[in-house]
Amino acid sequence: MTRSTTETWGSVTRALHWLSAVLVLGILAHGWWMTHLAPRDGRLWQYGTHGLIAVYFGMLLALRLVWRLSETTPHQPATSAGWEKLAAHAGHIGLYLLMIGMVVSGYMLWSSFPARFDAVRGVPFDYTLFGVFKLPAMHVAADRGVSKYWENLHELLSHGLQILVVVHIAAAIWHHRVKGDSVLTRMTRG
Ligand code: HEM
Ligand code: HEM
Repeated sequence: MTRSTTETWGSVTRALHWLSAVLVLGILAHGWWMTHLAPRDGRLWQYGTHGLIAVYFGMLLALRLVWRLSETTPHQPATSAGWEKLAAHAGHIGLYLLMIGMVVSGYMLWSSFPARFDAVRGVPFDYTLFGVFKLPAMHVAADRGVSKYWENLHELLSHGLQILVVVHIAAAIWHHRVKGDSVLTRMTRG
């Protein structure tokens, strides 16, 4: 089944969910690791690669949102209380908003990088998508303060995303192990 129904998630949504989950967890872990490396030459290269992968992720996210908005979605189990349904819904919206916020703040941060580093030569900050489309920087002239602003926001949002992802995974396990409903299996097997 390609499309989702009121009972279960379709194969496209499931594929997009698990592919995005692996990417988000990977980008989060790599982002944390690269910012905690001792300052050295290779660190800036890690930043550039992180951003490039995340920009491709952003495109996947846009596709996912369009697909998601075109679909019916499964109802929450009848055994879930009103507050649980509300929490699940709010949690999913929160995950989407934070994923968008990470891509946007990261892109703005990348756009302000020339203000901070005299030379970004040899570092993939000159992004060309699929070898064709050169990405425009959003700032004509940004100073260090502007760049710091986006950096702080990017870090703050990453903490929010980390917390919500932990709650999200805990909720999935809770549904499966404690409540014994089909919430997890309808996202794995469909
Ligand atoms: C899903 C999208 C993204 C995720 C999950 C993510 C995650 C992270 C995390 C966890 C950090 C470390 C924050 C810290 O503790 O200091 C980070 C830093 C960074 N991210 Fe992202 N990021 C995303 C998108 C982007 C994009 C699209 C760009 C650029 C185009 C970008 C550029 C950067 C840069 C340059 C840093 C280093 C900040 C610094 O100077 O300390 N990120 N990111
Ligand atoms: C091991 C990790 C994960 C597990 C076990 C998991 C499990 C699930 C389950 C069971 C659902 C279905 C909920 C329902 O039917 O009401 C779901 C939906 C969802 N998950 Fe995850 N998830 C994981 C990682 C992630 C990550 C890292 C993200 C993104 C940051 C994410 C974002 C979402 C979103 C937005 C939905 C709503 C459905 C949709 O629009 O695709 N998940 N997840």
